[in-house]
Amino acid sequence: MVCIVATSDGDASRPWPELAQDYERARSREDSLDRLVEWPAQRELLGDVTGLSVLDVGCGNGGKLAELVGDGAAASVGIDVSGNFLSAPPPGLEFIQGDLSELDSLPSLAGRKFDRILFLQSFGYAKDPVRTLRAARTMLTDGGFILLTRTHPIRYAVERSERNGTSLGEEYFSTDRFSYAHSWNDQISLTKRPYTISDLLNVFSAAGLWIETTHEPQLSEAAQRRYPHKQEWLNKHLGILIFKLRPIPGMHY
Ligand SMILES: C[S@@+](CC[C@H](N)C(=O)[O-])C[C@H]1O[C@@H](n2cnc3c(N)ncnc32)[C@H](O)[C@@H]1O
Repeated sequence: MVCIVATSDGDASRPWPELAQDYERARSREDSLDRLVEWPAQRELLGDVTGLSVLDVGCGNGGKLAELVGDGAAASVGIDVSGNFLSAPPPGLEFIQGDLSELDSLPSLAGRKFDRILFLQSFGYAKDPVRTLRAARTMLTDGGFILLTRTHPIRYAVERSERNGTSLGEEYFSTDRFSYAHSWNDQISLTKRPYTISDLLNVFSAAGLWIETTHEPQLSEAAQRRYPHKQEWLNKHLGILIFKLRPIPGMHY
């Protein structure tokens, strides 16, 4: 196996132009957890989007955002570093190739406001997570919220403890960066900064956000019966965390 460890400078987003298509292929599989668990839960938390503007940060090919525009969202923007977007976006949807670490200095976003800002499995690629979230916070309309998802940190601790013959706690609290060959393309290795639940919560506070809702979505009973291998995976790795975040009133940066 040829592994490209593409992140020696610590930039975890560098392999994405190569991985983007593998991700979309994996996501479209009938038994993908994004399709069965994550997107339905994300969609439910977004609720009625009629007439709302949505910014999807790290939007992938923009398929989820196109669905929201189909459900009535207006003046919406998808940003992704890969530039691998749907070729014919519906009216009211614009794609921008850009880096989420530079959200506060992207000319096409200057002065714009959004009712919903999404970071769906993309927030981990921010070089300075507090800066990125603060920038998003300033782009929210009154009454707007951020929907942010991250892989449960226990998942990576479980994988590393198995690989290294160590305990769960040792790996969960380790601060060393770690690399792993990706299941979507074993030619590409991603390097990640480890994080704990407290790291995540402290980033939200430092960015002036409070958590309205947290959700740990799971398979429906019907899907558990149909895809037992996915339930087995979730039993071991837990899945993702979803946070609905709102600005703390009166906090300005
Ligand atoms: C796991 S995929 C999630 C895609 C989509 N949000 C979804 O939920 O299906 C992560 C996405 O983050 C994007 N990404 C990674 N680093 C980025 C960066 N620095 N700036 C913008 N997008 C980035 C990748 O190109 C990829 O599309």
